[in-house]
Amino acid sequence: MADELTPETPEEEQPKKKHKQRKNGLYPGVSEELAASMRTGWADTELRGLEPIAQAVHTAARRSALSRRFPGERPVVPAGRLKTRSNDTEYPFRASTEYAYLTGDQTENGVLVLEPTGETGHTATVYLLPRSDRENGEFWLSGSGELWVGRRHSLTEAEQLLGMPAKDVRKLPEELAEAEGPVRTVRAHDSVIETALTDKVTKERDEELRVYLSEARAVKDAFEIGELQKAVDSTVRGFEDVVKVLDKAEATSERYIEGTFFLRARVEGNDIGYGSICAAGPHACTLHWVRNDGDVRSGDLLLLDAGVETHSLYTADVTRTLPISGTYTDIQRKIYDAVYASQEAGIAAVKPGAKFRDFHDASQHVLAEKLVEWGLVEGPAERVLELGLQRRWTLHGTGHMLGMDVHDCAAARTEAYVEGTLEPGMCLTVEPGLYFQADDLTVPQEYRGIGVRIEDDILVTEDGNRNLSAGLPRTSDEVEAWMARLKS
Ligand code: GLY
Ligand code: MN
Ligand code: MN
Repeated sequence: MADELTPETPEEEQPKKKHKQRKNGLYPGVSEELAASMRTGWADTELRGLEPIAQAVHTAARRSALSRRFPGERPVVPAGRLKTRSNDTEYPFRASTEYAYLTGDQTENGVLVLEPTGETGHTATVYLLPRSDRENGEFWLSGSGELWVGRRHSLTEAEQLLGMPAKDVRKLPEELAEAEGPVRTVRAHDSVIETALTDKVTKERDEELRVYLSEARAVKDAFEIGELQKAVDSTVRGFEDVVKVLDKAEATSERYIEGTFFLRARVEGNDIGYGSICAAGPHACTLHWVRNDGDVRSGDLLLLDAGVETHSLYTADVTRTLPISGTYTDIQRKIYDAVYASQEAGIAAVKPGAKFRDFHDASQHVLAEKLVEWGLVEGPAERVLELGLQRRWTLHGTGHMLGMDVHDCAAARTEAYVEGTLEPGMCLTVEPGLYFQADDLTVPQEYRGIGVRIEDDILVTEDGNRNLSAGLPRTSDEVEAWMARLKS
């Protein structure tokens, strides 16, 4: 951004002297005449008769559940603040999951406060930055003024949209300082709020709030399931985009794949839900390969693990391992088909009443059998699993909860998640893989440098499961046919 566009200091912070230059002398001061001009002559743009956002009824129910869990207490849940990248440039802002889950709002500096109304019950208020003040020049002189960053909703508009009272967040630290009774907050999002609450909160009690909000998200409501399906549908289109430009990726690098998927994510959604893994050739064996700066070669595989995040902040998490040429080699197909069989076994184990670990165990069993069958490890499979020997090549767990965070519900207690039981409305990934590192001397040469993962987003239903990402092919034959169609 050019220097002449750097916002000026608000008038009230300017020295009184007319035309006084700022200390560094780079920018002209603001004359009384200009300040007066900028104060007036603006139309009323207040939006009236706004309808509540689609998830308002659900966010209200989530706040009620939070209220029931912490009677007589004051939960304080911040959205977070802009993070400076350098000088006056900030990283893209993404509201905290906890705040967005409870309010449906995504603006920086927002804070949800549930004020206890007695022994039970709360009044929920969202604290927000109001419209920029034109009287003190904030709207055009401050870097966070609306003239620079765009119009915000007025507090009245926010109340209509979010379905709860809204107040000026700049007054919140003072209000919190005076607040009586037990307070809890979600840490690591907003240092101003944390400072205001220093003497009122404890680490242990705040952690209980974080754990509650993680576990509360395990079962998705109807709005959330719809959003997850939208995220997956966009992701399917993003994968199709990538297949169509593989020749361009071959002429450049993995970055072409990253950029192609990102375009779909930004046009149809809010963003990507996590750094896209665009791993060609042996990069597929690096689990979180996000550098994406390698060559894309015909004859190699491309492991693409990517997900679109919707405007409401729900993300997909899908992986396909594709033959860049359009056809798997024999060894690639053998490994791919083994991972497919493992994923089939895993998906079949996803149903209400099953333990969370069941799908992992089912998938791992198939992989262990294959590794024994191929002579890579001494059997039987039960021995391999007992000793965990398959993990040299399977590397990671077979899946995780999915929602607003790609690794959703991560703060949940072990008994509620990893050792828990599946219920209708839970959504999880099933993503087994086999990875033979390029320098793995324990496997024959032909395996080395091949990594395969297949990942789908599976919703637990009343009578089993639904594969939200069934719009992408999974068997090796289907993948080849799909690629041939898209490339023709
Ligand atoms: N994309 C990260 C994962 O699959 O968990
Ligand atoms: Mn995943
Ligand atoms: Mn993934």
